[in-house]
Amino acid sequence: MPLTATLERVEIDLGDRSYQILIGDDLLDDASHHAGLPASASALIVSNTTVAPLYAQRLRAVLAPRFRAVHLLELPDGEVYKDWPTLNLIFDALLGHGCDRKTVLFALGGGVVGDMTGFAAASYMRGVPFVQVPTTLLAQVDSSVGGKTAINHPLGKNMIGAFYQPQLVLCDLGTLKTLPPRELSAGLAEVIKYGPIYDMAFFDWIEAHIDALVARDGAALAHAVKRSCEIKAEVVGQDERESGLRAILNFGHTFGHAIESGLGYGEWLHGEAVGCGMVMAAHLSQRLGGVDAAYVARLMRLIERAGLPTVGPALGAERYLELMRVDKKSEGGEIRFVLLDRPGSAVMRAAPEALVREVLAQCCQG
Ligand code: NAD
Ligand code: GLY
Repeated sequence: MPLTATLERVEIDLGDRSYQILIGDDLLDDASHHAGLPASASALIVSNTTVAPLYAQRLRAVLAPRFRAVHLLELPDGEVYKDWPTLNLIFDALLGHGCDRKTVLFALGGGVVGDMTGFAAASYMRGVPFVQVPTTLLAQVDSSVGGKTAINHPLGKNMIGAFYQPQLVLCDLGTLKTLPPRELSAGLAEVIKYGPIYDMAFFDWIEAHIDALVARDGAALAHAVKRSCEIKAEVVGQDERESGLRAILNFGHTFGHAIESGLGYGEWLHGEAVGCGMVMAAHLSQRLGGVDAAYVARLMRLIERAGLPTVGPALGAERYLELMRVDKKSEGGEIRFVLLDRPGSAVMRAAPEALVREVLAQCCQG
């Protein structure tokens, strides 16, 4: 009998790479969720120095009967460690423990641990199975789903990586109880994102429940995670490798990645940069006729109520433009943005530099 009282399932339909996202309380303690994983002698839990002391022993306890050996690796904590030397620690552990090509990796943590563990799984012995166990709101609603894995390069965010799908995603809502408030707000940025780009009914729901979400109401968080995962599953199911539609999930990210790289990784949280980036992208959308000023004000107010910054740091327009040209969506040096063509719908397009400069002047300090 599964232990989990309330359990929601979202299916990612990708043919032979399909998998389930399970959402519920205390999933960490329920061994039944691992029944469908490939048979293997060993598992490696990759976590970090903050999350492992909180949750690794619970995961290890449910995995122990299934695997002959369950190893644990604690990485240093922080976006600044989403890099080559830290990624190499995962390969060191895999090789040091004699792990074979059937070893299952478990990513226990936020998006940093998830992105790095996924990239390690994609490349160790040319690919081993992995499971996402996201413990931040941001990771539960976005980064653990869809198979984007990466590390940062000093010259650009998430520039080195692979598309590689997990076997399973386990969103244990109970882990969100220990999340610092700033991290919860950062996750809300990615929840809010799904409204303007895809689902205005969800946007209305977030507006009506933002105080409950900030207060960590269990039912509100469960709905936010489920609806976010459903939308992401629909988008990724249609465009796994981002040849078109999937790019809309990067709303706010072109400006946001510039903020993250420009200030130095970890100064602003990824979700904070995305929240502020969405304000800038909405202003640019307004200048191009996609939405009106009232809609931009509404989105900005919601982002503020989620506890997120709405004014960009004073990097200077030239530096913003230089950083945005390195974005993965750029082509031939031309910056391309995800912009709203109406509330609830987004497209990727270039924008006249003069308008981008106006937005930077309007939305940034100094
Ligand atoms: P994070 O992984 O750095 O986690 C945030 C902080 O919370 C860390 O200090 C972490 O140790 C701590 N933490 C995690 N779970 C906790 C818990 N339950 N209780 C207490 N503390 C906890 O940051 P994040 O916001 O989860 O992820 C951001 C990363 O995700 C960025 O690198 C971003 O590029 C990436 N991302 C990837 C995708 C994708 O599709 N792959 C999508 C969005 C973001
Ligand atoms: N977070 C953007 C994507 O998964 O495509």
